[in-house]
Amino acid sequence: MQHDIHSKILGSGVAIPPKTLTNADLEKIVDTSDQWIRERTGMVVRHVVDENRQNSDLASEAALKALDDAKMTAEEIETIIVATVTGDVTFPSTACYVQSKIGAVNAAAFDVQAACSGFLFGLNIADSFITAGKSKNVLIIGCEVLTRIVDWQDRSTCVLFGDAAGAAIVGPSSGDGRGILGTFIKTDGRLTQLLWMPGGGTRYPADVALAENLNSIKMRGQEVFKHAVTAMGDAATHIMEITGLTADDVDLLIPHQANKRIIDATARRMKVSPDKVFVNVTKYGNTSAASIPVAFDEAMKSGALKTGDICVMVAFGGGFTWGSAAIRV
Ligand code: ACO
Repeated sequence: MQHDIHSKILGSGVAIPPKTLTNADLEKIVDTSDQWIRERTGMVVRHVVDENRQNSDLASEAALKALDDAKMTAEEIETIIVATVTGDVTFPSTACYVQSKIGAVNAAAFDVQAACSGFLFGLNIADSFITAGKSKNVLIIGCEVLTRIVDWQDRSTCVLFGDAAGAAIVGPSSGDGRGILGTFIKTDGRLTQLLWMPGGGTRYPADVALAENLNSIKMRGQEVFKHAVTAMGDAATHIMEITGLTADDVDLLIPHQANKRIIDATARRMKVSPDKVFVNVTKYGNTSAASIPVAFDEAMKSGALKTGDICVMVAFGGGFTWGSAAIRV
């Protein structure tokens, strides 16, 4: 197996709001049941950000932990990429707020909007920047406060989402064979209306959005499910082709934590055994762009991933977007 190693993850960190929302709590809000949610999604608990905290607060907390983990200062960061669909404001980018909050005065900061695939889009960009010599140390944060954009009267969506942030510092590889082995990203803009929030942009101004209940996530669940399985399969196939890896080479698969059934279908398609699949959807729900970096951090800190292991990450999201990455950690 021959790979050019360009960049590697030097540290990671997460921010999980302490407040929880259980299936039992949801039973009091909408007509649902713990059994239905567990069977259809695998979810049990999600976390909800306090009213006085913003996306950029959560993102900054995760970023500072990742800097600490990488033994690096904020001044050493040259690029900040924030992946989110729930930024503080429409503009400027949430990345600019993060830059200010953590004191990364030497960085250029911008947001990436690729829904649940956002972290892997960010990783693709970071790897490209570092490979091209455009940037040395890149901070990527996947962060979402999705509980602020769900319709709490729509049982088919409000049970699915939670808040969290996960960050990673990516820098040049030291040539020890560890690092990013490959990345892949793709979109299909014909599927925009399967999963979206119509309000909040210029198409439906605030007054129209409010009057027509457009300021919340709209999802065609079954169609999303179908396309998700296809997209995750495509992302998985491509990353194996790009890197030359086989299922036997994979020590840990980290799929986007949208739904346990989609995770299982992806693992089956990749022929990766269930004991090699990281699952934490049970305790966080779907945290969109935060899902993969939160899972990666947990895998690293819990020992599920050990030095030298090969980790494959696969995600899909609204857009439709999908992507994957393979890393020797
Ligand atoms: N509790 C109880 N019943 C419910 C609930 C609920 N929370 N939600 C829907 N139902 C009902 C429906 O009303 C329907 O009832 P009916 O038969 O009387 O009409 C019944 O359950 C079946 O509904 P389906 O939509 O067919 O249920 P399905 O098995 O498809 O599960 C789900 C729904 C979990 C949403 C599934 O379609 C799914 O996981 N889709 C993908 C969702 C996803 O991953 N979204 C995010 C992707 S991208 C990103 O991460 C941002």
